[in-house]
Amino acid sequence: MRKLCTLELLSTRRINQFGGMRKVELELLVSSLKRAAEMREIVDLSARVSGLIGDMNCLMGINCKMKNLSKTFDRFLEKIIDDHVKNKQEKTQTKDFVDTMMEIMESGKGEFQFDRRHVKAVLLDLLIAGMDTSASTIEWTLSELIRHPQVMKKLQKELETVVGMDQMLEESHLHRLEYLDFVVKETLRLHPVGPLLIPHESMEDCVIDGFHIPKGSRTIVNVWAIGRDPKKELPCIATRAPDGSTGGFTTGALL
Ligand code: HEM
Repeated sequence: MRKLCTLELLSTRRINQFGGMRKVELELLVSSLKRAAEMREIVDLSARVSGLIGDMNCLMGINCKMKNLSKTFDRFLEKIIDDHVKNKQEKTQTKDFVDTMMEIMESGKGEFQFDRRHVKAVLLDLLIAGMDTSASTIEWTLSELIRHPQVMKKLQKELETVVGMDQMLEESHLHRLEYLDFVVKETLRLHPVGPLLIPHESMEDCVIDGFHIPKGSRTIVNVWAIGRDPKKELPCIATRAPDGSTGGFTTGALL
């Protein structure tokens, strides 16, 4: 199932296919925020961001019609699958997650017995894994930026330089937005969406930090604490801004 997700559902090619849709959704959000700002209206950013992520997932075929539907998740997921089966013939646009999984199911080329139950299980996993994680990360990033106006200014400067004032940010700009990358990673360090990750199980005996971990042990990783450990070098997490400054939102050294 993990292989299916990595190769078929969440591959770079597949994610890129939905780039246009993400852009349209983001533009809608930005223009509605602009309008609200002009009218000096108060905006509930949490609700807007959750709405954005929900709509994006919806368009990727994960939770379409969720709002109008269904007393139970099972009926809701059954309906999504039925709709996809019914609309298969007319479909001209990009294949979504459900189409891809149904295709693999029907081809019989999956590496194990694969039926509707598996499709529903993966959909539910993606729905749960993708909604709150993305929304809360965006919300924390915005909250930290609002709490640290100097960081906000510096980020705006980078956006002005790389993207310019007269166009929307495109995903193709991302590799040049180093400070934005740093700000997001710094947010994830301070506010990890899974502070203890998902429970893992050791597949073999191993030693971590001098502790013997027998095969089959359940391991809980305290990512929250790792992100705050001053003694640790964290190779995966940017602890240094592109201009060489260290620290983060907590110390103000991000500036
Ligand atoms: C900012 C957004 C996100 C963050 C911070 C995030 C974070 C995480 C973390 C910490 C884990 C656990 C890793 C582990 O314990 O080894 C995880 C697992 C997972 N996430 Fe995400 N996630 C995000 C978005 C998404 C989205 C959008 C999807 C799908 C649409 C998704 C699907 C998954 C899946 C399927 C797993 C389980 C992977 C596996 O172990 O096989 N995530 N994510």
